[in-house]
Amino acid sequence: MPIDVEKVLGYVKDLKTLVGLTEKDAETLVKYRDVALKWRDDVVKMFYDTLFSYPPTASVFMEGERKAREETLRRWYERLFEGNFDDDFWIWQWYVGVVHIKRKIYNRYMLAMMGRVQAAFAERAFSELPLEQAMELAFAFKRVTDVIAGIIAEGYHLTYIESLEAIAGVKPAIAERMMKLHIEKVLREFGGRGR
Ligand code: HEM
Repeated sequence: MPIDVEKVLGYVKDLKTLVGLTEKDAETLVKYRDVALKWRDDVVKMFYDTLFSYPPTASVFMEGERKAREETLRRWYERLFEGNFDDDFWIWQWYVGVVHIKRKIYNRYMLAMMGRVQAAFAERAFSELPLEQAMELAFAFKRVTDVIAGIIAEGYHLTYIESLEAIAGVKPAIAERMMKLHIEKVLREFGGRGR
């Protein structure tokens, strides 16, 4: 099924509005491009050291794949400081979520690692830049990566559901009705535990 670009861009708008990402953030990221690129390799190393040192995430990678994956993340990181968050960029982030389905990269892994990337980036910013500049840069980075995480998660989630509907041959409206009934059953069984 082809990607519905308008739909994806609508989700981007939701996320940008709610997160508070603006053009000024893109300008900020470009302004600090040189310093941020100095941190690139450390961030990428931390990312894959973390994933490879935990068996459930280490096992998703194929033999000898690390180098290629590092290169992909390096490119992704560099792209953030080019100040060009155009439609193609957001469609790429959506596509990352779809690629992740194929490799069983659950959103819990992705979200945990986005949090780590944001923390590592903020640590570098606050230790190397004057406070005001560090705040400006670290929060611009956090806002754009929050929106990206939202789009990757939605790309994963919605494509997963669409795939199930396609496999089962169920029309979306029927699937939604069936889901509603199922959720009601789950909630009854759940019985408000933990509240
Ligand atoms: C901060 C979170 C993450 C970001 C921004 C990210 C970004 C990306 C990007 C840009 C691609 C390439 C898509 C393309 O082909 O253009 C990709 C693919 C991939 N990612 Fe992620 N990723 C994240 C989290 C993870 C995690 C947590 C894992 C492993 C547990 C992972 C494993 C993979 C793998 C194995 C592929 C290759 C899929 C394939 O081409 O077969 N990623 N990711």
